[in-house]
Amino acid sequence: MAKNKGLSKAKDAKKDEFYTRYEDIQAELNHYEEHFRGKTVLCNCDDPFESNFCKFFLRNFNYLGLRRLICTSYSSSSVVGQQLSIFDEDNEKVVPGNGYVMDITEVPMANGRGISDEDIYRLLSSKKRGVKKLKGTGDFRSEECIAYLKQADIVVTNPPFSLFREYVAQLIEYEKEFLIIGNQNAITYREIFRLIKDNKMWLGNGFKGNVGFFESPYQDYAVSSQHKEGLIRVSGVMWFTNMDLKKRHETMVLYRRYSPDEYYTYENFDAINVDKTTDLPKDYEGIMGVPITFLDKFNPEQFEIIGLGISNSGIEVGVQPYKPEHKKYRKEIQKRGAVDGDLYIMIDGVVTVPYARVLIRNKHPEKGDE
Ligand SMILES: C[S@@+](CC[C@H](N)C(=O)[O-])C[C@H]1O[C@@H](n2cnc3c(N)ncnc32)[C@H](O)[C@@H]1O
Repeated sequence: MAKNKGLSKAKDAKKDEFYTRYEDIQAELNHYEEHFRGKTVLCNCDDPFESNFCKFFLRNFNYLGLRRLICTSYSSSSVVGQQLSIFDEDNEKVVPGNGYVMDITEVPMANGRGISDEDIYRLLSSKKRGVKKLKGTGDFRSEECIAYLKQADIVVTNPPFSLFREYVAQLIEYEKEFLIIGNQNAITYREIFRLIKDNKMWLGNGFKGNVGFFESPYQDYAVSSQHKEGLIRVSGVMWFTNMDLKKRHETMVLYRRYSPDEYYTYENFDAINVDKTTDLPKDYEGIMGVPITFLDKFNPEQFEIIGLGISNSGIEVGVQPYKPEHKKYRKEIQKRGAVDGDLYIMIDGVVTVPYARVLIRNKHPEKGDE
């Protein structure tokens, strides 16, 4: 937590300018190629000149067989309007205040082979087919941006973290396929967790170790250990999607067996506590509490998600309040601002609250000496 203090500060200040690297987009998109043929893709938090999402889809437009690509940018983005080659419909140089849109249905290749950066630049700066000024700011919630959303099949971007809940709610409302970047904390938001529990959204392939490196103007917010070659290191970064991918069907191999001596049972809920996903017992039939990083390995054919054990979400699935004699421990945890766990165990007579837990059940536990 302490390490990311600077970035939490950036988040609190609604500083949303973290630009995604091309290589991270490429690495994730490799897992979904088959979804894109004949589709309209929308990147709705993306400056066509700057965003690597736009660049990726322009370069791969023909390869993926896209029907159409729409990118819209937001006027408050610090990179918008820095290029002088953007014109409005009256051929006047762009003035900050409006967002921009690029809406294309073909990407010509000058040399007939790959799409070069010159091809892309020529296309973007073409007065006829290139980047145009929007009527408004380019807010993804605005009427004109929603009109583009309605025309899209798949939305792919790294949206503003400060508006993540709203952003996802809009995608769900308009029943879009999506692949977006978010923070691990978002899993614990009630609305987001419900979507994950109901298998309406899941984690993508992911960043290595859930760590991402982003270009950002907030160098001052980050402590020196978070800098790397001009980029800021952000931990707990994940891809969220509702498009199927291979990883979601991989069965986790479990090695351990349940023994009451090796697993604690919660004091206020009928479930066992498992501290590491790799410690999940293969033969336990009841509910188990695991760290939320379990969701990285979640296969809905193998496990069922029952609920979440923090910030009173546990109540929804029957987690009881702390016993009267233990209530003061919870108050103390809340005061410290530590993770507000609904579940607790007793270790040698001491109340112990594990970090955030997802409650799950194995759909096919091994029986007897299998
Ligand atoms: C995390 S950054 C990512 C930018 C880009 N998608 C990328 O991955 O490089 C989020 C972007 O969303 C923009 N943004 C903030 N509020 C927005 C809104 N209401 N509508 C659309 N974009 C917004 C920010 O200006 C910022 O550029």
